[in-house]
Amino acid sequence: MKLAFFSTKSYDKEFFDTFDNQEIQITYFDGHLYKDTTNLANGFDAVCVFVHDDLDEETIKNLSENGVRLIVLRCAGFNNVDLKAAEKYNMGVYRVPAYSPEAVAEHALALILTLNRKTHKAYNRVREGNFSLERLRGFDIHGKTVGVIGSGKIGTIFASNMMGLGCDVIAYDMYENEELKRKGGVYVSLEELLEKSDIISLHCPLTPETKHLINKDTFKLMKDGVMLINTSRGPLINTIDTVEALKSGKLGYLGIDVYEQEEHLFFRDLSESIIKDDIISRLISFPNVLITSHQGFLTKEALQQIAEVTVKNIRDFEAGIENDNCVKL
Ligand code: NAI
Repeated sequence: MKLAFFSTKSYDKEFFDTFDNQEIQITYFDGHLYKDTTNLANGFDAVCVFVHDDLDEETIKNLSENGVRLIVLRCAGFNNVDLKAAEKYNMGVYRVPAYSPEAVAEHALALILTLNRKTHKAYNRVREGNFSLERLRGFDIHGKTVGVIGSGKIGTIFASNMMGLGCDVIAYDMYENEELKRKGGVYVSLEELLEKSDIISLHCPLTPETKHLINKDTFKLMKDGVMLINTSRGPLINTIDTVEALKSGKLGYLGIDVYEQEEHLFFRDLSESIIKDDIISRLISFPNVLITSHQGFLTKEALQQIAEVTVKNIRDFEAGIENDNCVKL
């Protein structure tokens, strides 16, 4: 099986190189896969892609004409793959449905603690010999109400972590998770969650229903000074409305690992470039906003799991096995 590996980073190679052998021969490409780069996959049997590769109908058609039979995603989300086109061109699609949900849940917690106790600012201050405590005041996380939107694998682990800190957890999901209830979480309506939470954390997938779930109307329901955390997908939040909520003080803290227009920015070193996205520049300018560039998954355990499950998906596809990771319409 010849595998064309797109959007390669050094940390991907570190874990996938151990599987590069006669059975699966990997060629790494730094660039993204999209309609104009499909020729790179000429002569390969499969492509391995990540969140910012764009597998629209034209890309899939070109891949199929180039002899590609399989798309393996190194991520859980598959909103970047046109599944209708995959079916039309008889292309197998496999994903990694879970890779250390703990990693993402712990990153959400890191955003909360950093935003609240301002350790990022303290670190810089102390390095410059500034030992003042002015403007570093935080609040006790203990005793606060945390609203979890989407109580799947990550949401439930996150909820449990927050309960460990002494928080009351309320959750909103279409399906109640028994594990969360057993641990002490209470399900409420979305409106009640927005009204009662001191901290709101998003853990639902991006779907037509969840796009811009957080917008000027939902902000109105929230407490003044609320903390909002998004480690899920950028478009869950209407970013323009979020800037307004920050300017008015309605939103007291914003921690995001994902951003609506992130595909033009994230995973690249743009430190010597002119950033043309005025919205992210505005977000960065707020003292109460913390942005990380989609690193929630970035632990060694998660990367190991991604590599192992991807290789299993390739082997199962070759053996004609449609395992649970096979994505269909
Ligand atoms: P999951 O599938 O286990 O849980 C998602 C939950 O969201 C489910 O319980 C589902 O019922 C619920 N849900 C769906 N639509 C909803 C709606 N309209 N309102 C409320 N709840 C809704 O998924 P998992 O593994 O917990 O991942 C959650 C999200 O985390 C993924 O969709 C992905 O976007 C994001 N993610 C982010 C990563 C990062 O590096 N920042 C890495 C991995 C995932």
